[in-house]
Amino acid sequence: FDTVDLIRTKRSGDALGTAEIDWLVDAYTRGYVEDPQMAALAMAIFLNGMERREIKDLTLAMIASGERMSFDALGKTTVDKHSTGGVGDKITLPLAPLVASFGVAVPQLSGRGLGHTGGTLDKLESIPGWQAALSNSRLLEILDDVGAVICAAGSGLAPADKKLYALRDITGTVECIPLIASSIMSKKIAEGTGALVLDVKFGSGAFMPTYEASKELAQTMVDLGNDAGVATSALLTDMEVPLGLTIGNALEVRESVEVLEGGGPADVVELTVALATEMLTLAGLPDADPAAALADGRAMDTWRRMIAAQGGDPGAALPVAREQHVVTAPESGVLVSQEALPFGVAAWRLGAGRARAQDPVQAGAGIELHVKPGDTVTEGQPLWTLHTDEPDRFDRALESLDGAWAIGPADSAAAVRGPIVRERIT
Ligand code: URA
Repeated sequence: FDTVDLIRTKRSGDALGTAEIDWLVDAYTRGYVEDPQMAALAMAIFLNGMERREIKDLTLAMIASGERMSFDALGKTTVDKHSTGGVGDKITLPLAPLVASFGVAVPQLSGRGLGHTGGTLDKLESIPGWQAALSNSRLLEILDDVGAVICAAGSGLAPADKKLYALRDITGTVECIPLIASSIMSKKIAEGTGALVLDVKFGSGAFMPTYEASKELAQTMVDLGNDAGVATSALLTDMEVPLGLTIGNALEVRESVEVLEGGGPADVVELTVALATEMLTLAGLPDADPAAALADGRAMDTWRRMIAAQGGDPGAALPVAREQHVVTAPESGVLVSQEALPFGVAAWRLGAGRARAQDPVQAGAGIELHVKPGDTVTEGQPLWTLHTDEPDRFDRALESLDGAWAIGPADSAAAVRGPIVRERIT
């Protein structure tokens, strides 16, 4: 095929054939199709979309670009969760050990944060001693023994996606349903999980600008999974406001441990239990009671074993940032808004996230929220505490928070929020 012809086809809004997509992805992985060509194609896809059949072909071609793992030898049902990413989204941390405490294997191959959303591996690395990298054989051993593993995805899974995602990141072509759906699902299908629950976010801190777009993304991914033989469902969940009361690596680990101790913020518990119920249902255990396993310490026991299996000390003190800055309420009333995206950006500017893939992150940096929308506040009370090792970061973080929240009259209806899980997609 001629690469330029294929770019022109997509530029005109026509569909690419199966053999054309297979060839493109393979040639791009090998370096025959070059980055500028793939960038032009990604932009043509961004602007003109793809048919369902093309999205499926793209997903299968990206799977075929690398290795396919299998957990068949385990003799346990495997179920995985993937979130499209949000602010304060630490759910994987309590969820994986919670689901594994029912005898189901949970292989969570995770990533690092880029931009305003945090990465699960960055969060866990704030636990002294904990290691993200595991060999495939060690991964299987821990799954067999403990049941839950959260580790770095090996570089052999969907290498075409790895290249394409890095390219999209620098060419303004990330927020595109065909490209997001094929990117996420190629990795999840190649990983070899038997079942998959997707947590697809909507709202200001989510990838997709509208509820309808998030729903279309969810349905596209659910169809891709089920077509490939992976039992897949999705929950559409609220990302208008940050999840829980912490944003930042060690701060989020601390909150996850609170949930595993049977406490923690109501929204984090609600979403953890909803996703666990969905995962256990797909794994054939619809009557399991995840809330009970949080309350009676079974999930905590699995967490400790999971952290220790990867070299971490589950009892060690977590790092704390050197400097704090408290923002107080300028007036009394009710907190009526708290936008996820600017809070995520502020935590990132404090050092919790990275601008380039090779940058380090600060374990202790981030934001503690003392109030959530709907809470009554009194003039002068602390609203949020900003944490960083480098105090010259406070100003830029505070700039991001400017206008990102509001206090209204005590009877304000604007503070009333719906349930966190808005819809289930199968
Ligand atoms: N996460 C991915 O892995 N790929 C995307 O395209 C978006 C989010």
